[in-house]
Amino acid sequence: MTVPHPISLAKTCPRGLLEILRKAGFTFDAVKARLGTEYRMYMPEGSGIAGRFRALVQSAGMGADIGARMLSANRLGVLGAISNSFIRRGPKDRLDLLIWLFLLNEPVQTTTLKCLFSDGDLNALAAMNLIRLDRDVAVCDLAIFECAGLFFATDARVKRPSGVNDVMPLHPDSFDLVGSVSRKPVESTLDLCTGSGVHALVAARHSKHVVATDINPRALHFAEFNAWLNGITNIEFQQGDLFRAVEDSAFDLILSNPPYIPDTDSSPGDNRSCGGQHGDVLWSRILQGLDKHLRPGGLCQMIHMIVQFGDERPEDKIRALLGPLTDSCNIILCSNTIAYRNKEIESATLVHYGVVTIKRSVNPGGTFSIRAPFHPPLAFDISTLLSTLEHTSLPEERILIGQSHFERSERNKILSGAGARMRIVNFLAYCCIIVRRALPVRSYVRSAWRFFGSLHQVL
Ligand SMILES: C[S@@+](CC[C@H](N)C(=O)[O-])C[C@H]1O[C@@H](n2cnc3c(N)ncnc32)[C@H](O)[C@@H]1O
Repeated sequence: MTVPHPISLAKTCPRGLLEILRKAGFTFDAVKARLGTEYRMYMPEGSGIAGRFRALVQSAGMGADIGARMLSANRLGVLGAISNSFIRRGPKDRLDLLIWLFLLNEPVQTTTLKCLFSDGDLNALAAMNLIRLDRDVAVCDLAIFECAGLFFATDARVKRPSGVNDVMPLHPDSFDLVGSVSRKPVESTLDLCTGSGVHALVAARHSKHVVATDINPRALHFAEFNAWLNGITNIEFQQGDLFRAVEDSAFDLILSNPPYIPDTDSSPGDNRSCGGQHGDVLWSRILQGLDKHLRPGGLCQMIHMIVQFGDERPEDKIRALLGPLTDSCNIILCSNTIAYRNKEIESATLVHYGVVTIKRSVNPGGTFSIRAPFHPPLAFDISTLLSTLEHTSLPEERILIGQSHFERSERNKILSGAGARMRIVNFLAYCCIIVRRALPVRSYVRSAWRFFGSLHQVL
């Protein structure tokens, strides 16, 4: 089925749209504050949030239609639990209107829009095909997100176009990878499975040249549109199956958010989520391609879900897939175990979700694997951490640190018995937790004091 490309004719006025979004304060944090929702992932069907949301929709006396759509969005983990008051009061200002249009994909009265936006603004949105003016209502069939100060158009996050290989809205995993990537300047970056182009566009700030690839031409249209919208010109877009799109080229930084959902109803490559029976088909192929495409000294960072069967540890599985690079890469796996299960992986022991960072060593030998908890956004640059660890002359070959959460006593136990590398990672992860939880200043000072103390012990 061919669906009209909503933005192919729309390269008319990027400034107009950027101004509308900026003037309304359409940022990730502002939207989160309005919706009252933390973005979440993999909430099991019928669990707390979905159940609470159903009750909320009923108590708000809301039309079954919008309620059902939002409920389904909540089930998908896309919206989290939208605040009761936000839904009840309806759109009141520019930011509300943009949220209703671009994130909830609900029709908005043109009279209301006209009170808050000038005719010029509305014409700019319509000229870019971002809204359709349909008699007395305006409708948006796409979604728009802010991430890292850039704006991204994607397919709608609530009403997905049917029968189309659609372009993934920014999901928690998109944000989690953005928050984990090393931002050290590099010559060349490759974003495999670019979708809306989010990782390519953010990396364009610290890379001389970026190549963004996807198997889906629709995704590349959106990614190109987004680069144009944000005035970014150092990205080359290539269509193709993973590394086939770049032939023999090698890169300093390879990023990817590949499809990783265990799924036997479709095949890997058919859509934005299917990763084969155990979800590992595409990310395994990416790891196998690093030998050819990752430059010595380069980093690969990938967000993924690893389904563990039996005792095989995820970092061991990753290392085994590196083939010729098995003994010449250092690995930091920041991951948490999650409650995700579906029919394909009923017998799984654990499911890990997080970002793996693989550094191809310049000098092979003495490699290490580290597993740390995943608390994006990271409060430190992972490539600095890797360099620090590479320069410690301590003997640990493999270090495994705490699972999902640090309890204070557990952390102290780990620290007291731990080797130097482990202490550093623990402190960094701890600092990261503190930054995320926004604890008082004295906690930052205390953790920085401990962190530098631990560095002092090992350097
Ligand atoms: C999970 S989405 C990630 C989108 C975006 N990078 C993000 O993080 O928001 C995965 C993307 O991989 C693309 N894809 C699926 N199979 C592929 C393949 N074999 N080669 C290249 N891209 C593929 C899909 O079209 C989709 O855009």
